[in-house]
Parts: sequence; structure tokens; C-alpha cells
Amino acid sequence: MVIHPAAIRKFQLELLSWFDSHARDLPWRRTDDPYHIWVSEIMLQQTRVTAVLDYYARFLTLFPSVAALAIAEEPAVLAAWSGLGYYRRAKLMHQAARVVIEDHQGTLPRTAEQLRRLPGIGAYTSSAIASIAFGQPAAAVDGNVERVLLRVFSGEAQPSPKSLSHRAATLLDTQRPGDFNQAMMELGATVCRPQRPLCLHCPVQPFCATRGEHRAAPPKKMRTRQIAYALLRRERTAATQVLLQQRPLSASLMPGMWELPEVSAEEGDEQRVELTVRHAITVTNYQVRVLRFSPREAAHRWAVRESPRQWTDISELSRLPLTGLARKVLRRLQIMPQEVR
Ligand code: ADE
Repeated sequence: MVIHPAAIRKFQLELLSWFDSHARDLPWRRTDDPYHIWVSEIMLQQTRVTAVLDYYARFLTLFPSVAALAIAEEPAVLAAWSGLGYYRRAKLMHQAARVVIEDHQGTLPRTAEQLRRLPGIGAYTSSAIASIAFGQPAAAVDGNVERVLLRVFSGEAQPSPKSLSHRAATLLDTQRPGDFNQAMMELGATVCRPQRPLCLHCPVQPFCATRGEHRAAPPKKMRTRQIAYALLRRERTAATQVLLQQRPLSASLMPGMWELPEVSAEEGDEQRVELTVRHAITVTNYQVRVLRFSPREAAHRWAVRESPRQWTDISELSRLPLTGLARKVLRRLQIMPQEVR
């Protein structure tokens, strides 16, 4: 599809002027520190802005620079990520920080091509960082931007990634590439929403081929799984402890992270039920029961000598890389403090 350059310029100016007056005030939009922008873009992969805000602030307090992140131990990085999900992001970012220190004198590279060579930085993230932090003319296409492009241009139901990035590059305002990319994301997140788009509030509605309609992939099917965990607590003179178990390092989901010991979902006794919670991970809805066992039962069923299990002081829990579900359960039971908001 060929668009007239004057129409493209008008599109850019309308979108940017809307962004200048409507953009949400987000902490990573108040900084020009490339490391901070990198952290935000990694956290925002597959994760909503509202979920990221607290994690972003805490992570930068714990690891205020690339150097601080590079010298940290991996479990500390995972502990700071616990509850945000997709833990591979944290591991790869930690590795990338070490590469930046060792191979780039501690300074993040400036172009999308160079950034892309770092662990955990793909096509989208490299363009987002290069444009936002360094003003490079790279178009960033995430899920929100893809939807905007599909609706604005209409055309094929399933355009190839190449044709989408070609469209994005055609539209990009090369004078303000970082703002333009964020304006496209913002439009997708707040106006050009997947369901019930707010076309009457859209600054580029006159340019839009579809006014909010486009053929989309069917929504993903969720499956349900029952799962049960054992809660084992014991009192020591100086501390209350809970029994935790480490997931195998070979597990495909959350390897090496800590959780309550799993028991069979058929484990029956309703008297033991301490808590029931729901928890969604990617396409699975977990219906979770937490069952109480006594420390004496622990000695029979969950021998601590068989690593990887350990009795953990509850004051130490926030320093461990817990799974998001374990944290949710320990918080609901007020074993771990609630998050301060
Ligand atoms: N999603 C990905 N990057 C973002 C950003 N910089 N602002 C808002 N949402 C985003």
C-alpha cells in the first residue's frame, strides 16, 4: 500500500500532538537514563503497565545501575522479579548486564542492531530502547502497535511480520522516534483497544481504514488445572519457619524457583484446607488448594535432608526467588507482609 507523504506527516503530527496532551505520566517517561528505559521495556514485555509500576521502582532501588545489576547474584534478581512472571526475562537481563560491563565498558550500545545482540533483547525491545533512549529512527512493533497498524491499514488478515514492520517504518516520525513509538503503544493500550475501541477519541481516526474492525486471531482457549500445596509451619525460638521446595533446574516453567511442596490434587481431607486461590499462568487457570500439615507429618513425608527442601525463616522470604503463586499464597495467609502501595 502506498501512502502519500503528506498524509503520513499529518498522521504523525496528529498522533504526537495527542500524545503530548494525553500520555500517561509513567516513571520511565520521566527519565533519559538508558538503563532505566531498558528495565522498563523488559518488564513491559507481555505485562500490563499497572502490574509493572511497583516492580520497576523496587528493582531500580535494589539495582540502581547496570554495574549493580551485573554484580548481583541471580537469586537476588529473581527475588526482585518474583510475581511478575516470565522469569527468563530477568535471567537474560542479568546476563546482558554482565555483557554490557565486560564488552561495552558499562555503556549500553546505541543502535537497534547492536542492542539486539544482547541476551533477552529482540526486534521489538531493541527498537524501543534505541528510539526512546537514543533517538534512533527504529520502529517498535509490539502487540498494541500491531493492532493499530492492522486497523489503520486494513488489508490482509495475517500480514507477515516483514510487511508489518515495513508499515511501521513508513509511518515512523524520524524526528521524534521514541515519542512516536510510545504514542503508537499508548494509542493501542488506551484507545485502539482490542475490544470496544474508543474510535470517537482517536486522533488518527480520519486515516483509519477500518474504524476499529479487523480480523483477529480467536481468543486463546484457557484450560483449568487443579493443584494442591502443603503448608508446613513450625516455631523456632527466634523465628517462625515454613517449609519450601525448589523447582527442578530442568523444569520448563520457573526453574530453580521456590514454592510450597506440591501434594496430589486428590489429597482429600477438607479439614486441612487453609486457603483456596485462583492463579492464571499463560493459558492455564490453576485452582489452587493449600492444605495444612503439622511439622510432625513433615518429618515423615517431606524429609528435609533430601534437598531441595528447606525450612525458611519467614523474615527471609522476601529475599528468595519465590514463584508468583507461592508469594500470592504466603501473602494471603499473612505469612509474608502485603505489598505496600
Ligand atoms: N509497553 C511497552 N513499552 C511501553 C512504554 N514505553 N510505555 C507504555 N507501554 C509500553
